[in-house]
Amino acid sequence: MKTNNEFLVNSHPQTQAIHAGYEPDLDISQPIHLTTTFKRPVHEQAGGYTRTGNPNRTTLENKLALLEGGYEAMAFGSGMAAINALFEVILQNGDHMIYPDDCYHGTRALMKNFFSAKNIQVTEVDMTSVDHLSAAITSKTKLIWLESPSNPKLKITDIEAVAALAKSKKIITACDSTFATPLLQKPLQLGIDFVMHSSTKFFSGHSDVLGGVVITREAGELSTRLRLYQGVAGAVPSPFDCWLLNRSIATFPLRIAAQNANALEVAGFLHKHPKIETVYYPGLATHTNHEVAKKQMKGGFGSIMSVLVKGGQSEAMKLVSRLQIINHATSLGGVETLIEHRRTAEGVMAISPDNLLRISIGIEYADDLIRDFKQALS
Ligand SMILES: Cc1ncc(COP(=O)(O)O)c(C=O)c1O
Repeated sequence: MKTNNEFLVNSHPQTQAIHAGYEPDLDISQPIHLTTTFKRPVHEQAGGYTRTGNPNRTTLENKLALLEGGYEAMAFGSGMAAINALFEVILQNGDHMIYPDDCYHGTRALMKNFFSAKNIQVTEVDMTSVDHLSAAITSKTKLIWLESPSNPKLKITDIEAVAALAKSKKIITACDSTFATPLLQKPLQLGIDFVMHSSTKFFSGHSDVLGGVVITREAGELSTRLRLYQGVAGAVPSPFDCWLLNRSIATFPLRIAAQNANALEVAGFLHKHPKIETVYYPGLATHTNHEVAKKQMKGGFGSIMSVLVKGGQSEAMKLVSRLQIINHATSLGGVETLIEHRRTAEGVMAISPDNLLRISIGIEYADDLIRDFKQALS
């Protein structure tokens, strides 16, 4: 870990989320450094340039590295830019990589449309079974990509078991931990090499900024190359985006606590409702991998769930259209509850069932959310 502030290293995440990354001299809120370039001392080899570094980005990266318990963090302009950077740095011509059969559709599209075309073999596996994963490994496997909980079916992978298997075969592991955030699970502590988040979701929490981040477990060649790639490929967040994220992260532990508590109540309600066929939520005892979730999601089960509505797509759409305060929109992790019919959002490679709705629970009053679902389902 790069930070040398012992007090903060030993602090609770609620404290780290506010204070990590920036030590004010004068101003309590860090100013936005709206400059592309910085004064360069005459005899120095290189000066500062915002593509390769900016004080607002440094604050964000240091905050996220500390929260995740990693060595360093690299911020990108979106979650997809972070994923792409990681794949570009790790995967070479002829390599093989494995990813989960249920994952964010953009990740699948990136792999199938672009990395496959570069002679990188990709295999989709149900990662809830370590045996299935083990069977898919070849002598060329370079990277195992995890997403847990997964989007949109909330599948849970036993992160520690996968990390141990990969380590025994000298395979790199990376986990998209967007749904969990560092407050709920810590993949690096479970042996994963890289953690990735779409900062657009819970770190932002207000549906107003795009961002992505990769956090590395330790220093090393890949970490150095990723930092280099970030600067030269240049998919970096603006100073204002970083400032917005830094501001939002300060309240993120409070939001997460409220969202998790609401989600448990809403999931419990929907689970019992006669018009709902299934609720995918790792916090329910009925979830296939509830025990694994309990073991690794030490901070709670999150606030994303998906439901299958009885009667197919038309009934699902009827429910969506009748909701009063819950809007039909893509994305997740914000203070406002959102619902989305995933199949029609996934484009040409859509694989979600036609009666699946993904729900991102916000921080409204839980009874109002339940009241909205109740009237829409009646
Ligand atoms: C799990 C997950 N990973 C990655 C992404 C991509 O992030 P972004 O939209 O910030 O590029 C998303 C977006 O919804 C996501 O849900």
